[in-house]
Amino acid sequence: MSVVAVIGAQWGDEGKGKIVDLLAERAKAVVRFSGGDNAGHTVINPYGEFRLHLVPSGIFHPGVVCIIGNGVAINPAVLLGEIDDLKKHGVDTSHLFISDRAHIIMPYHILLDGLEEERRGRGALGTTRKGIGPVFADKIARLGIRTCDLLDKEAFQSRLSSVLEFKNAILTKVYDAPPLSLKEIYQQYCHYGESLAPFIRDTGSILQEIMSRRETVLLEGAQGTMLDPDFGTYPYVTSSSPLAAGGSIGSGVSFRQIAHIIGVFKAYTTRVGGGPMPTELKDEIGELIRERAHEYGATTGRPRRCGWFDAVAGRFSIQINGFNSIALTRLDILDTLPSIKICTGYKLDGETLDQFPSNVAILHRCQPVYEELPGWQTSTNNIHDSKQLPSQAHQYIARLEELLSCPVNIISVGAKREQTIMVRQVV
Ligand code: IMO
Ligand code: MG
Repeated sequence: MSVVAVIGAQWGDEGKGKIVDLLAERAKAVVRFSGGDNAGHTVINPYGEFRLHLVPSGIFHPGVVCIIGNGVAINPAVLLGEIDDLKKHGVDTSHLFISDRAHIIMPYHILLDGLEEERRGRGALGTTRKGIGPVFADKIARLGIRTCDLLDKEAFQSRLSSVLEFKNAILTKVYDAPPLSLKEIYQQYCHYGESLAPFIRDTGSILQEIMSRRETVLLEGAQGTMLDPDFGTYPYVTSSSPLAAGGSIGSGVSFRQIAHIIGVFKAYTTRVGGGPMPTELKDEIGELIRERAHEYGATTGRPRRCGWFDAVAGRFSIQINGFNSIALTRLDILDTLPSIKICTGYKLDGETLDQFPSNVAILHRCQPVYEELPGWQTSTNNIHDSKQLPSQAHQYIARLEELLSCPVNIISVGAKREQTIMVRQVV
């Protein structure tokens, strides 16, 4: 198989890192293609426990080329810190490469992310404040600075000077904030450029070469489908596309080469930040899920909002990504519950909606329609074969497959690599 995409199917934090770390064993390359250090991918393996923000989760496999693709926005300080931390834990990072076309997060992006959120007041989006919105806005506005720019100091200085003039005008005139110093940023980023230079490559060509040998490439999604700027719960979304199609644009792989798309779903739903979440549980069950699963953001530490599985959003996610497989994670979190609900429809003013609404004002008013299934109330943590799952767990999974019209091929029952049930081999 050539290119396999591993995509967040809900609102992020679905466990993509674990799935990629596991599947990378059979791959030749792993590519991050979107987002930036707003992502937090937790990986627990024999090297230890890691929260990766920028480095692909394939990094623990020495023979696997790891690429930070052109679609990722890079905060150099975060990336260098992450590389250092991996090295300290004995992880080889010599197989890591960064696209020469990736955009760089600058100090004004981070400042503006915070200032914009403050100005929104009660309407704040709940961003991670990592500069993501502003850096992708600059990319499209043609005001961005890319990794390749850092390699030519003279050209970088003149580009930075013209962009900073513009940014300082916004900082001082709109936000009444002090201006940033060209000299300081220039020196700091020249320094970053020198440290990152050994990693910077035309990564698209590296991938083409790997694909020409018919070796497997994994595209590692960040964020989740419902945070997509086009199809998510706009404006409560992120600023780059987490969809399978984004995997093509953000890596330089033609979408025709993506042979298999895995949608990673949690066995329930979480969301961090603002915006509607129809199945959110503001009761003791939501609290129980949060505590059992330790649902606190890997990037910001914020408590995640928890709720039942939303099959309406799930069907929409399948439709726009074209998933071939589902990886269902954190099934074990439901182990103690006497009964489990699945949202099978939304009710609005007495009518059942058959499409996921585009307007968040409408979504806010939707009432979830639930179907209740019996829980299994026994531990699944040590199950390796799907045949050993309790019958109620089978029933729950079969109902999800039916509602989503997609097979569950991987089931995760714990954070460790071995706590995984491979129902069918996907890579
Ligand atoms: P991973 O890759 C969950 C959310 C933020 C906020 C919204 C916009 O770990 O699944 P941004 O900083 O991107 O402008 O914030 O998107 N968000 C995530 N939520 N998991 C993520 O990444 C997220 N990345 C961004 O909480 O609601
Ligand atoms: Mg995360």
